[in-house]
Amino acid sequence: MNSKPIRIALTKGRLEKDTVGLLEKLGFDCTAVREKGRKLILPVPDGNLEVVLAKANDVITYVEHGVCDMGVVGKDTIMEMKGKFFELVDLGFGKCKFALAVKKGSDFYSGYGVKTIATKYPNVSRSFFEKKGMDTEIIKIEGSVELAPLLELADGIVDIVETGTTLKENGLEVIEDVAPISARLIVNTVSLKMRQKEIEALVNKIEEAL
Ligand code: PRP
Repeated sequence: MNSKPIRIALTKGRLEKDTVGLLEKLGFDCTAVREKGRKLILPVPDGNLEVVLAKANDVITYVEHGVCDMGVVGKDTIMEMKGKFFELVDLGFGKCKFALAVKKGSDFYSGYGVKTIATKYPNVSRSFFEKKGMDTEIIKIEGSVELAPLLELADGIVDIVETGTTLKENGLEVIEDVAPISARLIVNTVSLKMRQKEIEALVNKIEEAL
């Protein structure tokens, strides 16, 4: 283990915690990550890894550009951003779904007018409705998307649903599932060629542990 560490970008927050738990299950000492303070690059020396903590979209950017060899990011971000990298493992945690939700009791599919959809994920939404052959106006919202139908900005939302509590407490309901979501291990295309043995060994270990 004398080569330079494999750099892995983790999505800050819950996916980060779940990934650290997984790395510990593999037997790696993640003390530095657990006691990170405000540091953003942390060593996992016995795994010859270097953990980088980033926002979801940036995990993809860093992996695509090859400044990180690998990344852990939600399928939601992958579906929205696309990009050139290999998606190697479904890590099984960070489970939730994309769903179409509307105000409880409202008849979304009735009428002929173009429906307005509010979402943080315009690409995912556009392709969902295109597949249905349904013309929609998509409005990008940065967060708390549930507000949009309540404020009458939109007829529906395409958003992440985990427990369903946010929808329920705001008088909304799912009328259709769009896609399942979970955390994925992604790998830079060049890194996979250049460091194939090390990456494959790590991926095998991860798959065994799952
Ligand atoms: C996400 C999502 C929903 C909520 C769903 O928002 O956009 O609002 O979580 O979770 P639930 O089904 O368990 O209630 P997040 O907390 O990331 O905040 P945001 O809406 O400001 O992006």
